Amino acid sequence: MDQRQGDEAGRTTLVSGGVTLHGVCKEPSPEPCGLVIFGASGDLTRRKLIPALFHLFQEKLLPDRWYVIGSGRTEMEDEGFQKIVAASLDAFSTASRSDPAERDRFLQRFHYLPGDSQDDRYYPRLRERLAQLDRAHATGGNHLFYLATPPTLYSGIIRCLGATGLNRSPEGSGWTRIIIEKPFGTDLASAQALNREVGQVFQEEQVYRIDHFLGKETVQNILFFRFANTIFEPIWNRRYVDHVQITAAEKIGIERRAGYYERAGALRDMFQNHLFQLLCLAAMEPPASFEAEQVQDEKVKVIRSLHPLSSEEVDRFAVRGQYGPGGVDGEPAVGYWSEPGVAPDSRVETFAALKVYIDNWRWQGIPFYLRSGKRLTEKVTEIAVAFKRVPHLLFNPILSEEIRSNTLVLSVQPSEGISLALQAKHPGPKLCMDRVAMDFNYRGAFRVPSPDAYERLLLDCLAGDRILFSRRDWVALSWSFLMPILDRWREPPAVSFPNYAAGSEGPKEADALIERDGRRWRAL
Ligand code: BG6
Repeated sequence: MDQRQGDEAGRTTLVSGGVTLHGVCKEPSPEPCGLVIFGASGDLTRRKLIPALFHLFQEKLLPDRWYVIGSGRTEMEDEGFQKIVAASLDAFSTASRSDPAERDRFLQRFHYLPGDSQDDRYYPRLRERLAQLDRAHATGGNHLFYLATPPTLYSGIIRCLGATGLNRSPEGSGWTRIIIEKPFGTDLASAQALNREVGQVFQEEQVYRIDHFLGKETVQNILFFRFANTIFEPIWNRRYVDHVQITAAEKIGIERRAGYYERAGALRDMFQNHLFQLLCLAAMEPPASFEAEQVQDEKVKVIRSLHPLSSEEVDRFAVRGQYGPGGVDGEPAVGYWSEPGVAPDSRVETFAALKVYIDNWRWQGIPFYLRSGKRLTEKVTEIAVAFKRVPHLLFNPILSEEIRSNTLVLSVQPSEGISLALQAKHPGPKLCMDRVAMDFNYRGAFRVPSPDAYERLLLDCLAGDRILFSRRDWVALSWSFLMPILDRWREPPAVSFPNYAAGSEGPKEADALIERDGRRWRAL
């Protein structure tokens, strides 16, 4: 069994199945709070937020004093909402234990206030209910508003919160924060407009723009890996790195989300947020300290340094794809056009690949290849750093095979870990070379499951830690880089969709993008 011993400095020693890990820990300290969830019976709330809150509650990571007000149009009492919460736990919680009394105590924290979030008249009632529950739970007037609604409702909610004074703590001493889900805008203009609307009502330090990728353990580990070890940083630059590949491949299609996806597509859905966040963490300079503003500053510098694409360059640096019929996991899979709710001649991309350059001293001339798509062979999210080839091919005259360069893979999912591919001599009298890997695997090393990203992000928000959230300028800059591509792709469609089969590794245009440079995508 695992045993954890701690000392006052926060150092812990975990003795786990023969592996001893010496750790230095800092735990977030969440504060008492009333959480208002707009979109209380929506998919995100049921699938992610409620299970995340329950797990935090079970692990005693939530503060002692907290409550939730669910906000939605459906007429129901607290009990009705508690039934939805219970059903969501049954369907989506992965908690390993279930104690009915504990579950009951959890459900008691949930309240409900029906009404139209776009109607000014709803908010005085909300203010009253908050005041009453603040007193009952002694939460000190701390409020967190979670926008888990369709994005078209964000502006109305933000405006009404401001008009009712709910953007400030009623007692002047507590805090008020707001979590805004992606998508944050649909292009640069709409993202800037939303930034302005938010900025008129909330101070930037009250705003938490969520990107669930940043809550993933392995994504957070990128910074620890880079900046808590000395051996990688000296080679993390254009002198040693040949190129970097960032992949977020998915097996699933668009599921039942045609309404959203038909207006989004892969670039808006995955690149503007998740892939660009991975890119920034992999490429950024060390921040002055591990504090939100410093980390955000460095991420902003990366996105600001992306070499902007002219309209002509888009055709050489970006490719798009859409899946047609095929097979996934041995089962037939329909093409995008046959998905429910999709236009039969839709031009929306379900796959995109980009080549980007970062114009700074560290990365000048080093291509970063990014790709993401639905309905591919495997679910794989990873950053692969390919190092340069050896300068002199010493073994080549006696070896038939080519010496492949070292690759360091930061694997986000499904196998969470870090792996370094090396060349080694195969044992025996013959001179043969093999590719071997030095692997660090999360589960094997720590023997604890990684918490869900939403657990981490909710906890950080309750503790007032903004490191893992996106800042106003970062969001605008990432849209601004994508605009030439989005504009170009709006023009009369130049590509023949569908151009890859469901269950394949993506369109041949994506292969051509990287193979033109004498490189290949890593196999999925
Ligand atoms: C979401 C996208 O933000 O991320 C989805 O809207 C995508 O289309 C999902 O499937 C991927 O997240 P994860 O955590 O499953 O890799």
